Amino acid sequence: MPPQNVATLSPGKGKQEIELPIVSGNEGPDVVDIRSLYAQSGMFTYDPGFVSTASCKSAITFIDGDKGVLLYRGYPIEQLATRCDFMEVSYLLLNGELPTPDQKAKFVDNIKNHTMLHEQLIKFLSGFRRDAHPMAVMVGVVGALSAFYHDAMDVSDAQHREQSAFRLIAKLPTITAIAYKYNIGQPFIYPHNDLGFTENFLHMMFATPAEQYTPNPVIVRALDRILILHADHEQNASTSTVRLAGSSGANPFACISAGITCLWGPAHGGANEACLNMLEQIGDVSRINEYIARAKDKNDPFRLMGFGHRVYKNFDPRATLMRETCHEVLDELGLHNDRLFKLALELEKIALEDDYFITKKLYPNVDFYSGIVQRALGIPTSMFTAIFATARTVGWVAQWNEMISDPEQKIGRPRQLYVGAPRRDVP
Ligand SMILES: CC(C)(COP(=O)(O)OP(=O)(O)OC[C@H]1O[C@@H](n2cnc3c(N)ncnc32)[C@H](O)[C@@H]1OP(=O)(O)O)[C@@H](O)C(=O)NCCC(=O)NCCS
Repeated sequence: MPPQNVATLSPGKGKQEIELPIVSGNEGPDVVDIRSLYAQSGMFTYDPGFVSTASCKSAITFIDGDKGVLLYRGYPIEQLATRCDFMEVSYLLLNGELPTPDQKAKFVDNIKNHTMLHEQLIKFLSGFRRDAHPMAVMVGVVGALSAFYHDAMDVSDAQHREQSAFRLIAKLPTITAIAYKYNIGQPFIYPHNDLGFTENFLHMMFATPAEQYTPNPVIVRALDRILILHADHEQNASTSTVRLAGSSGANPFACISAGITCLWGPAHGGANEACLNMLEQIGDVSRINEYIARAKDKNDPFRLMGFGHRVYKNFDPRATLMRETCHEVLDELGLHNDRLFKLALELEKIALEDDYFITKKLYPNVDFYSGIVQRALGIPTSMFTAIFATARTVGWVAQWNEMISDPEQKIGRPRQLYVGAPRRDVP
């Protein structure tokens, strides 16, 4: 990337101006390359929350929040969600191109080779309380995978990294399903490699040794779409966590566990769970106006969960796709008259017509619809974020791999503005 232009910075009175290269990507805003700033001026930049700071170069995902654009490797999410399945999208995120039929078959085979868990890992699970939150179990069990695949792992070897990617993508549905089964006290269901990736996931979640489970194709497609829509979202908090953890050369399974930890927070992956809890709190269509009034009241901290987005200010392209799936699933399962679904659809209608929400550009986001779809699929609210983690694992792995292979990669080490006591002596 040759610098096309320079930005000039005046560091203060009496100090010499500094020239910093401006670098352009293929889409999105240019960046000012400040790597030489400290050497040239003795100053750092201050940017809590990375509001104006690009932490890396990446060729994986692009978002234009104002225009409602989300691209994976250049392909619009609308095209991927309607023309591809999760395995193809995973291959694309990892390798940069959509697979040919042969490449897809080989990839799917590789994933299938790794769906089972070491039996010792299943024993590890019994250390958790039965009522443990599934995300707590996920953090622990995925982190524990590092104990099983560490000695033979060399992160600088591309083949070892690929092997870890297969393992992680294949084992996450198994781990999510056993976290669920453990919680409800049912026996674990082993993976069934005759089934497709998403069918197998549903099978491990909902089959029992006593009863066969034949997944409805509409439900398989709905879960597959949830996985595609959540597979990557560029440098969000959990992805940046995975990159930062991995920048020290740490074991990839431990890095993904760090990503799961970050995703768990209500400001990130926990929002769809919060949305369903809000619908339960509203309880009935007759109380919607009361809650809309509370959401508009500046003195009331209540917000409509599942409305608004930090990046997408006009529309969230994932929400449009998820809304379509939501109606397909409710139609297929005849659930339009269910109390909570009726409530959700009425809330959507009222909020979309309300001036407050229109002027502030607050639209239902992907979490609003994915919460409704997952509930219709029979997935309990406490599992929503675990499903999100299963989908995002491929994005995390792709970003981790890109970071390790980047010759400009350095250990992540932010600077600080120190505001504590200056040097002093112990009396
Ligand atoms: C997602 C979210 C954090 C984005 O926040 P943001 O970009 O920082 O926007 P702000 O918090 O500055 O909100 C802008 C304005 O809209 C209002 N607003 C934002 N989201 C709102 C909501 N869900 N309900 C009611 N009012 C909302 C804010 O009160 C603020 O009003 P003001 O300008 O009068 O102060 C925010 O919309 C939110 O809390 N949504 C609910 C939680 C959610 O669904 N999160 C999942 C995101 S995928």
